[in-house]
Amino acid sequence: MSRYLSDHVHLGDDLTSVVILDQTLLPNEAAYLTLREPEEMFEAIQALRVRGAPAIGICAGYCLAALAEQRKDLPPDQFRAELHRLSAYLNSSRPTAVNLSWALNRLGRLAHTMPEAAPAAVAAALREEAIAIHKEDIAMCRAISEHGLTLIKDGDGILTHCNAGPLATSQYGTALGPLLLGTERGMKFRVFADETRPLLQGARLTAYELDKAGVDVTLICDNMASIVMKNGWIDACFVGCDRVAANGDTANKIGTSGVAILAKHYGIPFYVLGPTSTIDLACPDGDHIQIELRDPEEIRSKFYARPMAPAGVKCYDPAFDVTSHDLIAGIVTEKGICRPPYGQSLAALFP
Ligand code: MRU
Repeated sequence: MSRYLSDHVHLGDDLTSVVILDQTLLPNEAAYLTLREPEEMFEAIQALRVRGAPAIGICAGYCLAALAEQRKDLPPDQFRAELHRLSAYLNSSRPTAVNLSWALNRLGRLAHTMPEAAPAAVAAALREEAIAIHKEDIAMCRAISEHGLTLIKDGDGILTHCNAGPLATSQYGTALGPLLLGTERGMKFRVFADETRPLLQGARLTAYELDKAGVDVTLICDNMASIVMKNGWIDACFVGCDRVAANGDTANKIGTSGVAILAKHYGIPFYVLGPTSTIDLACPDGDHIQIELRDPEEIRSKFYARPMAPAGVKCYDPAFDVTSHDLIAGIVTEKGICRPPYGQSLAALFP
């Protein structure tokens, strides 16, 4: 396994399967899963075995390419109908992270440009496109890390929420990217990682990745963000994103908007870091972002030896919330740092 687990999603050697590191088992176990059936792929995304907006997009690209390869002997019409059906099916696994539909649509558009091509040729082209998406993500993470690093200095304290590191992307990550890159260059940071209830991506994945990379990381419960800010330990907040609307409103893991509100109160800059593939200019504002609702058992009993709430108690379990654009000091993309007003600066990224 590489230092930053950048190989945690890839195409199987047989080209008809996808191999993923099962993130639900981390940090206790690093086990890889081979996904062959559409239902296995759907389940892996929905159950967060592979998660994080860019990683979901990379995985979905490989999944569609592998399924196309499996079906390359079908008659052309049937092959294309299957591609359409499978793409829609995978796309329905999670609603909020736009990278999922972004990657699937990118492959779909490519197939559309080859109306006369035989299924085997289309399958090969989709595979190349999926690999391109993965390679581009590696480059995007690196560029985001470089831009993000200009916002902080040696010795800074950074608060992060959820996991926007290598496991959520391909390499370096987005919100964790500048911290990993700076550490490689000899800089020192003090990172505070929110545990991120209810699925604990901060505790299980962010603390794991930063610790493995030699970064000084302190795990806190989500409700401790205010005290570490008040103590003067935080110079900036860095978080990832699942969908950025045209006006800069940003969906990210549930609890992110609370961190942004606290940061505003304490006068701490709050930055969102993500690739342009996470920006959805077709979505005007945060009210138009669909928020995924998940199984209440995640709150009642998951990760506990015994249930920690009365059986059947009513729970509300949104997976994401929207941070208003006016709380965000900058949106860091691979093309540079967008500043308010976001309506203009985000649109300028797509000339
Ligand atoms: O539900 P998850 O674990 O997929 O949520 C992940 C996040 O919210 C990340 O912060 C976001 O996808 C950015 S990852 C670079």
